[in-house]
Amino acid sequence: MSEKNKTVSSAEILRQREYMNSIAADNEVFFDTHKFRKKFFVLTLGCQQNEADSERLAGMAEAMGYEKSESPDDAYLIIVNTCAIREHAEKRALSLVGQYKHIKARNPELIIAICGCMVTQQHRSDEIKHRYPYVDIVFGTSSIHKFPELVAKKMSEKKRIFLPDEKEYLVAEGIPVRRESNYRAWVSVMYGCNNFCSYCIVPYVRGRERSRDKDEIIKEVRELVESGYKDITLLGQNVNSYGKDFGADYDFADLLCEIDKIEGDYFIHFMTSHPKDATRKLIDVMASSKHIARHFHLPMQSGSDAVLRAMNRRYDFEKYIGIVDYIREKMPDAAITSDIIVGFPGETEEDFEATLDALRRAKFDMIFSFIYSPRKGTPAAESDEQIPDDIKSARFDRLLKVQADISLASNKVLEGKTLRVLCDGLSKNNDKVYSGRTEGSKIVFFDATPECEGKFLEIKIERGDTFALYGKIEK
Ligand code: 5AD
Ligand code: SF4
Repeated sequence: MSEKNKTVSSAEILRQREYMNSIAADNEVFFDTHKFRKKFFVLTLGCQQNEADSERLAGMAEAMGYEKSESPDDAYLIIVNTCAIREHAEKRALSLVGQYKHIKARNPELIIAICGCMVTQQHRSDEIKHRYPYVDIVFGTSSIHKFPELVAKKMSEKKRIFLPDEKEYLVAEGIPVRRESNYRAWVSVMYGCNNFCSYCIVPYVRGRERSRDKDEIIKEVRELVESGYKDITLLGQNVNSYGKDFGADYDFADLLCEIDKIEGDYFIHFMTSHPKDATRKLIDVMASSKHIARHFHLPMQSGSDAVLRAMNRRYDFEKYIGIVDYIREKMPDAAITSDIIVGFPGETEEDFEATLDALRRAKFDMIFSFIYSPRKGTPAAESDEQIPDDIKSARFDRLLKVQADISLASNKVLEGKTLRVLCDGLSKNNDKVYSGRTEGSKIVFFDATPECEGKFLEIKIERGDTFALYGKIEK
């Protein structure tokens, strides 16, 4: 790669290491006196990028000498990593932060830090400042690597700290990571978004696109595979833009091609792809690869060209379905999933029906569907053609019904087939069955034993339902 992206300097990372070490030394003294370690608790809302950021925050907290807790009640450091994609996510964050007031009252030494997309918006940071006086630190997505310094400052100066948006968004390498799983991992390949879809807050809270150096990514994936990780998801708001900011002749398909050469027993997933730059080259690389999962998450958002134009998506349905057809031509058994928004401002009944027709035509394995939520500062929120809530909800229900039949049919065809499934252990909602995911990310339920967790199993599918598959271990 010819040009490097703007990264946080190694001197700066070293400076943060020094803060981590000095807090760790203080926490060691606390341990010697009290005979227990101070704990930290991280709560993550929103997308996988936030999950990945939280693993870094947890890594830094551990390097500061805190021990992880599963509950906020006994924590000395609480981190809430917030989301801003829809109003619901923001309300949830605020209500959770509200619940921490009594924990702080019990333990005045507790430090409460709020970070992530919601508080990167100035108006939310101000709201926390005025309405949640017991919150100690607020920092935006551009300041994650500065977390140790902020904690140290809070400890020494006792003042509240507000750093919502630093204007400069960089790539930070060399931050400690505490991964949640020892067989599934996130690897960010790029950060930020340049697309400005008219409904979306992300470009305002995550800055412009910047790609990580390819050698750093490949090294990280190799280390994960060598330490036994089985499913690695490459993350970016729009992975198909990977490398464009370098201006070099190296794109996401090239990156996948190189990663695929790493020897081992593992799958690579990636998300999210923007249809406007999903190339045939990328699909060809997937089709001929050994490790790239045959799963394409390709958000369509709407099946109406008028709505797609108003959303500033820069493709029409014909272009979109052309990509879907090409994926199926090259990989007939690939799973294709999508995101759909209903009730975008100005969406007519005909527009909505075009989306239903698009679902019937595309036959997605699964969709993530959302009711349009106006986001302050985005163009769509200013539109005077907002759709009333009752119409939005009615359309949402109709959308789910149409997709339910399609998902059911796509799962039924798997009955009798044997699929490779990565076992996730006992199901979270039913501790009598085990669950896992297929290459196409479909959930499968089956009987197993604890040592199956984190292993690939061959599962014979006995029943396909709308939202899951049910089967038996074959070996
Ligand atoms: N309202 C509803 N859904 C949204 N998404 C993004 N912004 C909004 C919004 N304002 C959805 C899109 C995107 C997914 C991550 O969230 O479908 O692909
Ligand atoms: Fe939001 Fe569009 Fe960027 Fe996705 S591509 S993060 S929907 S602006």
